[in-house]
Amino acid sequence: MFMETIRNPRIMKETSKRLLMQGRSIGLVPTMGALHSGHLFLVKEAVAENDIAVVSIFVNPTQFGPNEDFSKYPRDLEGDMEKLAAAGAHIVFAPDAGSMYPEGFSSSVEVKGLSDKLCGRFRPGHFKGVATVVNKLFNMVMPTRAYFGQKDFQQIRVIERMILDLNMGVELIRCPIIREQDGMALSSRNRYLSDGDRASAPIIYRTLCSAAEMIRSGTAADAVADFMNRTLGSEPAVREIQYAGVYDPQTLDEKKGSSGASLLAVAVIVGNTRLIDNMLVEV
Ligand code: PAF
Repeated sequence: MFMETIRNPRIMKETSKRLLMQGRSIGLVPTMGALHSGHLFLVKEAVAENDIAVVSIFVNPTQFGPNEDFSKYPRDLEGDMEKLAAAGAHIVFAPDAGSMYPEGFSSSVEVKGLSDKLCGRFRPGHFKGVATVVNKLFNMVMPTRAYFGQKDFQQIRVIERMILDLNMGVELIRCPIIREQDGMALSSRNRYLSDGDRASAPIIYRTLCSAAEMIRSGTAADAVADFMNRTLGSEPAVREIQYAGVYDPQTLDEKKGSSGASLLAVAVIVGNTRLIDNMLVEV
């Protein structure tokens, strides 16, 4: 099947308008490329549930801090295209930075509150960059549905809030975290890990699984958070724990008791790589 590549935002929007006029539904999978099986799961869902599946590939500079990995973030457009064609995507939208942020660009979207917690405390401005670019992608692609992986749970909550607050007509579809056999959540950044650090990193998943058991058996959230910090802290490859604990999945605030659904979430530095992971426990 023919897969079209569009690089110009104006052409993307005209194409989407035409498709919507024809009564076709559009599924959007926003990505920064370096695609792995987690992304391809989202693409397959978008293909299955919509007439047209659009995958955007854009390494968005505004969501990276000054000391983060923007310049070394993995880029492999050709490899990504092959994977997307095999997964059945219809359109790849791969704009360049100049057309996304032309001279004089001055607007942004900020989802206060949710953006300042968890990762937001360690990556100031990150979610403002994410919300702004996702808003722009929604305006260009005009998707019926948009697909996001739950590994970036906070990103999902920020975008859900933006959709609600700004009356956007898109349905956000939450998709499960895809894991390696040893439980490691797939991420484009896993390739930064040395072999030794990669072998140690599944401590994150094991900690989440044990913590989920504790929650299910009624242990209070603060005791579970304590266990998570002690377990992760005992692994020498974990250089820093940015956060590890039990949070309310709606507000992302720290939980104290054991009632209601819990989000177990972790951000750690392993070697030189920042890894995040989470598990949602519905009781
Ligand atoms: O999750 C990502 O890859 C990015 O944050 C997104 C949603 C594509 C925005 O740049």
